[in-house]
Amino acid sequence: MPETITITDDRTGKTVTVPIEGGVFPSSALRELDPSLYMYDPAYMSTAATQSAITYLDGTNGVLRYRGYPIEQLAEKSTYLEVAYLLMNGELPNETELVQWKHDVTHHTFIHENMRKKFAEGFHYDAHPMGMFVSAVAALGTFYDGAKEIEDPEERNHQVLRLIAKAPTIAAMCYRFSVGLPFNMPDNDLSYSANFLNMMWKIGDYEVDPRLERAMDILFILHADHEQNCGTTAMRVIGSSHADPYSAAAGAASALYGPRHGGANEAVIRMLNDIGTVDNVPAFVESVKKGEGRLMGFGHRVYKNYDPRATIIKEAAYDVFDVTGKSPLLDVALKLEEVALSDEYFIERKLYPNVDFYSGLIYQALKFPTEMFTVLFAIPRMSGWLAHWDELLVEGQKISRPRQWYTGADERNYVDLADR
Ligand code: CMC
Repeated sequence: MPETITITDDRTGKTVTVPIEGGVFPSSALRELDPSLYMYDPAYMSTAATQSAITYLDGTNGVLRYRGYPIEQLAEKSTYLEVAYLLMNGELPNETELVQWKHDVTHHTFIHENMRKKFAEGFHYDAHPMGMFVSAVAALGTFYDGAKEIEDPEERNHQVLRLIAKAPTIAAMCYRFSVGLPFNMPDNDLSYSANFLNMMWKIGDYEVDPRLERAMDILFILHADHEQNCGTTAMRVIGSSHADPYSAAAGAASALYGPRHGGANEAVIRMLNDIGTVDNVPAFVESVKKGEGRLMGFGHRVYKNYDPRATIIKEAAYDVFDVTGKSPLLDVALKLEEVALSDEYFIERKLYPNVDFYSGLIYQALKFPTEMFTVLFAIPRMSGWLAHWDELLVEGQKISRPRQWYTGADERNYVDLADR
């Protein structure tokens, strides 16, 4: 069977034959038929916007791999910092490389005092920490002259280290500010995840529980990348204009903020709280089927099967509950999953739990307020965003500039104000 596709323009009878590679054909072939012909695909439902060698996702079979390594193996055996190295560099680090990478990231965990004393203090006392995070990431770029030197690989590497290292510091700063607590300086003797937990919670002689540190690290690994999702696409679109990586990452974080993307974990907890008890689950599911709302934490543009991250998170949730005690919402979540997975509405539409369905329960058990949930997603996603940013620059991708299908008014003459 030839691995080609032939397209005929019925208006002219002209045909064009193009190769199919990896299930994809170049849509530019259409323009050989007619240079003014474009494809209409507003939500990229059937458009591959880029080539990428970072993350492989097979939504039909529930497969997720970073640089070829199954997510299950990484979650079991790796650490977040090792995974961040893998995403950025394409290979797992050897021992020397890992020691150096940890040292380099750790070396950059502090933020400029102005960020904390002047920038953060400018926010209203009840500012949403994700709104603060987005703004702080953009502001951070103004502290580094080299931020704009995006053609220089050494400078790019500097900004990558800074953004990965400072994401937890900024996140903890936003939280401590929002509850009126003094900022905790980074402790560079701790691991990436332990340092974050320490900056969040340290009051008096707080010590990080290693089981919770590991759970946090697993969550970071699972959220590190997810190919061309809305936030990563925003990163690539902004990066393609050669904006500095701080501005691009702030744009990606803004995309992540929305409740249909990273904001869903926060929405899940609100939904579970609204449902309240196991007995209310069937009525809630019926209301979703009537179109009165969505079952948050369910469904995915790409996964038409169980999200593999949801399986791992569900297991990790039990490990956390062993330390913290069970979440009162767990039973509601389990019942909701059971009812939805056996309901024709969800089966027909292939709606399964996604990463956000159980992550919120863990965050809640770890005592994070719901407003911090999307920030917790953004911290590890920083490495994924940066890997895509670096990839697009190395490959010299052109500036993103889609076309539109104009549906507005035809030419008409200006009407003077008095005549309108
Ligand atoms: N609850 C109820 N119905 C749903 C849901 C849901 N969560 N998700 C999709 N549907 C229905 C939808 O109403 C539509 O039905 P119909 O064909 O009768 O009109 C059908 O399923 C297809 O939905 P869609 O909106 O066209 O699908 P999409 O690929 O555009 O949306 C999604 C994907 C993730 C935005 C959507 O499933 C959703 O809103 N889920 C809830 C929010 C959520 O959990 N988001 C986290 C996604 S994973 C993490 C991340 O990306 O950040």
